[in-house]
Amino acid sequence: MNVALVDLHRQHAELLERMHTAIREVLESGAFILGPRVRELEERIAAVCGVSHGVGCASGSDALLLALLALDIGPGDEVVTTPFSFFATVSAITRIGAKPVLVDIDPATYALDPKLVEKAITERTRAVMPVHLFGVPADVDAIEAAIGSRDIPIIEDAAQALGSSYKGRAVGSLGRAAAISFYPTKNLGAIGDAGMIVTDDDAFAARARQLRVHGESERYRHERVGLNSRLDEVQAAALLVKLTAMDDWNAVRREHAAYFDDALRGTPLELPVVPDDCVSIVHHYVVRAPRRDELRAYLAERGIATGIYYPIPLHRQPCFEFLGYREGDLPEAERASLEVLALPVIPEVTEEQLAEVAEAIRAFYGA
Ligand SMILES: Cc1ncc(COP(=O)(O)O)c(C=O)c1O
Repeated sequence: MNVALVDLHRQHAELLERMHTAIREVLESGAFILGPRVRELEERIAAVCGVSHGVGCASGSDALLLALLALDIGPGDEVVTTPFSFFATVSAITRIGAKPVLVDIDPATYALDPKLVEKAITERTRAVMPVHLFGVPADVDAIEAAIGSRDIPIIEDAAQALGSSYKGRAVGSLGRAAAISFYPTKNLGAIGDAGMIVTDDDAFAARARQLRVHGESERYRHERVGLNSRLDEVQAAALLVKLTAMDDWNAVRREHAAYFDDALRGTPLELPVVPDDCVSIVHHYVVRAPRRDELRAYLAERGIATGIYYPIPLHRQPCFEFLGYREGDLPEAERASLEVLALPVIPEVTEEQLAEVAEAIRAFYGA
């Protein structure tokens, strides 16, 4: 048996005809970059996030970078964020010469611990960047309370959480702006790299639009130095087709998570926590597992794929040594990196396969 963490062949099978047609239409149109399909996608993704603007760009990593640039963040500035995320969360900050101030995570949700945010804020803090890791919204109200009356915007790293919600509000609408990734393995994945910034702030959106085309304010006039980070029509066309299926896929991911919640109860695994007032799109179903690496090998022998997100917390990455963090400084992130294991919950996995995964885990622990 083969149970995959990601299976894009099967995901695309039903949509393939429509995707071929959509891509052929792009070819025939001769408009390849930032055209009508990108504009339609921007509107649709903004609507999913409950905000008025989407600004398509080349990747989720660039969406983070552009969001920080749109706030004029640079050398001498600090951004508070989490050490337990994908690399781009922290590299977006260092790339523009600002300093990441890393705050440990809440061990239940793996998100930035709001209790620690207040202590991390200084007069140089220019943004707080929570990550809705694995699809579970960070506690943004508590982060706002920690920020208090200071004028420090929240930039959401929503790369893993398009369609999740927090207290009835869509992820992407919880701060000044949010970064979305359409990396192929995301719950809404392109057929290459793609990303988007979403925001309700007109001026912010206008700045981000300039920054993605080299800071151009009018043709060949540059107010600032930006990037070349444009979204292309082929990606937008593919994403528009896949967007029609996203809500159903997200619902199936949640059903699969609910199945595991039931089937794995009573095992030594610590199961994922989604706060009552949140809905997660379950980008990953992440458990904490005793003897994690042995379990992973045991499942791999049985054809069951699992993932470790993330094996090295960002403050322990060699390239961030200059930040001066030591082992033990952010203990919850370090512990999580040793314990977490993602189980397959993609919509393409069958119930029979879920049952086999649960059975294999029970057998491993002799439960
Ligand atoms: C939490 C997080 N932030 C940022 C990114 C960067 O997105 P991309 O791969 O589209 O550049 C990703 C995804 O890869 C991510 O998971």
